[in-house]
Amino acid sequence: MRCVPRCAWADRMRVLVGVDENAVARAAAALIAERRPRVLGVATGSSPVLTYRQLVRARSLPGDVQLCLLDEYVGLAPTDSRRYRAVIVEQLADPLGFPDNHVHAPDVDADDLDLAAERYEQLLCDLGGVDVQILGIGRNGHIGFNEPGTSIESRTHVGFLHDATRVDNARFFASLDHVPHKVVTQGLATIAGARSIILIATGAAKNEAMTALVTRRQSPLVPARSLFDHPDLTVIGDHAALGGTNYPRTLLESV
Ligand code: F6R
Repeated sequence: MRCVPRCAWADRMRVLVGVDENAVARAAAALIAERRPRVLGVATGSSPVLTYRQLVRARSLPGDVQLCLLDEYVGLAPTDSRRYRAVIVEQLADPLGFPDNHVHAPDVDADDLDLAAERYEQLLCDLGGVDVQILGIGRNGHIGFNEPGTSIESRTHVGFLHDATRVDNARFFASLDHVPHKVVTQGLATIAGARSIILIATGAAKNEAMTALVTRRQSPLVPARSLFDHPDLTVIGDHAALGGTNYPRTLLESV
């Protein structure tokens, strides 16, 4: 009989692969809804957009869910539609009819940003912690805006975007010069404290970061390593993001 070595990480981390981004979004939305979160941690950027659309279409979130942002830019005007809070209101809260006071973000207009970060960390705690955290991942492996080199112990804090991340995010702005440098972000330890984590990644640009995550490449330069030992982590992506290595994975059926 052939002995198949047990692999601790494979026991914990579920890797689901969909044929395209719609299959990925449907699976992610179904998993989120299934967990009936009272507190849902929400990422912004391109990765979760179709998942949010799917959640809106299915109206499958509890009506009293609290939406807690993962991060927020510093320096954009309070009315700027690219503020991440505004994005979540537009993509999720408004279409689902959730009240404004159920959407939480760090107060990036505060004079004392360190204090604002501490208060946000406390708020997450007062809400009882994040039940389900939705994540994207940067090409350089960042989660939230925890860039390579961020301490695995970090809590919500003021951070600075790496040049590569600003270049990637310039597509949302008139030019690279307009992309903020500064952010307030949940820390790596904050994110890892969520009860359940669903990380969405599509496209070949994410392949290197995803390979580092699913093969547990140990390096302080891979921020997503803070998720390695999480007890309930599901990684959902397409073939472009997740192809290349032969770690265990489940293929999602195309519907
Ligand atoms: C956004 C966030 C970031 C993004 C990441 C990927 O709130 O925290 O970590 O998830 O930069 O961005 P997209 O999905 O636009 O490729």
